Order: sequence, then C-alpha cells, then structure tokens
Amino acid sequence: MDRIRLVGGNQLHGEIPISGAKNAALPLMIASLLTREPLTLENVPRLADVKQLERILENHGVDIAVHGRRATDQVDGQRMTFEAAEIVDTTAPYELVSTMRASFWVIGPLLARAHEARVSLPGGCAIGTRPVDLFLYGLKELGAEIDIDEGYVVARAPAGGLRGGRVVFPKVTVGATHVIMMAATLARGTTVIENAAMEPEVTDVAECLVAMGARIDGIGTRTLTIEGVDELHGATHAVLPDRIETGTYAMAAAMAGGNVLLRNARPAHLEAALAALGQAGVHVAEEAGGLRIMRNGNGLQAVDVETQPFPGFPTDLQAQFMALMTMSDGVAQIRETIFENRYMHVAELARFGADIRVEGQVATVTGVPELRGAQVMATDLRASVSLVIAGLAARGETMVNRIYHLDRGFERLEEKLSGCGAEIERVV
Ligand code: EPZ
Repeated sequence: MDRIRLVGGNQLHGEIPISGAKNAALPLMIASLLTREPLTLENVPRLADVKQLERILENHGVDIAVHGRRATDQVDGQRMTFEAAEIVDTTAPYELVSTMRASFWVIGPLLARAHEARVSLPGGCAIGTRPVDLFLYGLKELGAEIDIDEGYVVARAPAGGLRGGRVVFPKVTVGATHVIMMAATLARGTTVIENAAMEPEVTDVAECLVAMGARIDGIGTRTLTIEGVDELHGATHAVLPDRIETGTYAMAAAMAGGNVLLRNARPAHLEAALAALGQAGVHVAEEAGGLRIMRNGNGLQAVDVETQPFPGFPTDLQAQFMALMTMSDGVAQIRETIFENRYMHVAELARFGADIRVEGQVATVTGVPELRGAQVMATDLRASVSLVIAGLAARGETMVNRIYHLDRGFERLEEKLSGCGAEIERVV
C-alpha cells in the first residue's frame, strides 16, 4: 500500500496551484442526472472520489467524456462532459455507494427526474454517525414516499412527480441542502428551504443549476426559494477553487515557515480560517493571482477556534489547524461542533510528541517547542493531511501510512509541496 515519506525542517517557498473543489465537483456531477442534455464541467480535480462517482453515474446511464486528456495537461483541472440522455437504472447499489457518502445524493435527481430511486445507505469517512434523517424529511416534504428496505432507501414520487414544499432544517446540512435544492428544480410548484447551508459549494451548484434553466432565489443565503420547471437543459460550468485545499496549504506554509502564493485561491471563501491564521501571527495577504502566506519562523500564538457552518471556521480544516497549534507558544482550545467523532488525528499527532487532551467536544492543545518525525496512519481525509502538516515541521523522518484517504481529496499533494521545497515523496 502506498505511503508518504517526508523529512521535516524545510521552509516552503514558491507557488501552489489550487485545484477545483472536490465538494463542489461531486454534487455538480450528480446534477447532470437532472437533464437529458450534456453538462460540461471545467476544472474538475483528478481525485479518487471523482473516479468513484463516475462509476456510480455510469451505472445510472450517464455517458462521460474527458476532453483533451494528455499526460502534460495534468496541472490543470479536467474538462468533462456528463450526458444522461436516459436514466437506465434508478438503483445505486451498496458496492458503489458504501465508500463515499456523497454518492447517496443521487437520490434527489433520480427521484425528481425518474420519479423513483433505490439508494444504498451511505458510507464515507469515519467521523461520526452521519444519519440521513434530514434528507428523508426534506424529500417527504416534496411528496416522496419513503421506505427502508434491506439497507436501501426506496423512494417514490407521487403521480405526476415531486411537488413543491416547505423544508425547515433543524440544523445546517450541506448534503441535504444540495439534494432538496436539486430535487426541487423539477418539482411542480415552489419549494422554500429554510436554514439552508450557505457553503460556497452549495452556491456553486445553485449557480450551475440556474445556468441549466433552474429558477432559484436567495442563492448564498439561509433561505432558498426554488420555482420548479418542467425540464432543465445542458450548460457549461467551471468548478470553483477548493477552499479546504487552500486552507490546508495555508496551514502547511504557516507550520513550515516560508512564503507561498496559493494560486487561484478565493480568500472570501475562508475568512474565518484566515482570521485565525492572522491571530496566530501568520502574514496573510490577498494578491491579484491568489493568496500569499508568509511566516518568518517566529513564534506562533495560540488561537481558540470553534467549527461552525459557513461562514464560520470549517470542520474540514479543524485537524490541520490543530496540527499547527501543536507548536504554538501557548494553549489553544479547539471545539468541534459539526461532527461528534472528528478527533481521530489526536492520537496520531501525539506520536509526533504533541500535547493534546480531549474532553467531549473540546481539544486542548498545549504547544510544544518541537515535534519529532514518526510512523503515523490516518482514518479520514482531513486527518491524513494534518499528519503531513505536522511532518513538515517535525525533526527527522515521518512516514504516513494508508494514504488512500489523501488521494480521495488532494490532487498531486506530494508534487505541490515538493515544488515549494518540502522533502516529501510517495513510496510504493
Ligand atoms: C459535507 O458533508 C462535506 N462533504 C464534508 O466534507 C463536510 O465536513 C460537511 O459537509 C460539513 O461542512 C461533501 O461536501 C462531499 P452535513 P455532509 O450534512 O453533507 C448531521 C470532507 O472531508 N446530519 O453538513 O455529509 C451530520 O451528522 C467531507 O471533504 C444529520 O444529523 O455534512 C453532521 O453532524 C467530510 N442528519 C451535520 O448534520 C442528516 O440527515 C452536518 O453534516 C444529515 C446530516
């Protein structure tokens, strides 16, 4: 199994191109199920999760083409066309869905367009129980009938298709907002989603749906109003740059020290995380080409953060920020409020000599003067990359085992970091 070997101590200097966002690319690909016409997506990242979703969509009858594929084009995102002329199968089987939670989201478009769906209950990163009750609640409000049968959610639309409804989410949920928004585009009448997720990826998908002919008001706010239409049509849409990848490399540069330009980054999409970096003493500056991160190697201040739905501090950067705080000059409190079990990196960070105590939702990180390289292993995507960040600053060699999680969400990670002077390689 592939591993990543790194030797800490080098500062990072140079430029890192930010890829298209995984968490926008996946629902955008799923949106192709809503129309018989081709949907062309630009800037699609080359990731294991994208490949897996391609298999799932192909099983439903989507024809997928990758344009201009050449070995030398690996630096830019892919341009791909998804054409669901006919939905040939409305079942998303366990074998395909179990490894990635977002694949469950096909339930919305299948139900809206084909009026039925049979989708296996999802899997994904081991970061909490992650139920689907809010998806089912929302779909029922649009008139769907739902049964659970042998691990599958079996959903049927009423005669004539889904109808508009009022969906008030008791908590902010990215996935269920995507699904209800997509389903409502083809429902009869008006749907109002209250307490909708405002994550930039939701906005990106909403803008693509509008380009496909959907009628959506309130994009980028907590209330989305969707007027159903009879049909959507094809469109071309570029996936927005990945804010979590941006924040991850910002924290890597902060940890290792140096001066890095994160090319194509959109600072407006991660203000809370950049504010925390600024408070920690990292120099953050917006530039025409992206975002510049500088740290001269002086002490890092301890900063408390609490994860919150957008525009708050993202849960997907919690592990990386914790890695950074292990070397602060004080004591930082990190509170995880989105997922109940997202501290699996704590035991692994301890292998580097980090001092972290977890009580309930709160991790107390007491900075240490030095980390030492170690053999580590991670259990989810963002936790894995937090170990890479720790390794960049640790004395000596670090070996990150079981890196298939990294390949799910970070495109060309070793190349991007070694291009800035890090000593990092994949060992096969
Ligand atoms: C999305 O997951 C992201 N995944 C996650 O990124 C991210 O951590 C999360 O949003 C929060 O920002 C993708 O976009 C593919 P939620 P999602 O529904 O949609 C609870 C990564 O590393 N909930 O917003 O699954 C849930 O358990 C991944 O890229 C219910 O209780 O997250 C959680 O506590 C990991 N019932 C909270 O809501 C439901 O029916 C927020 O989850 C649905 C969710």
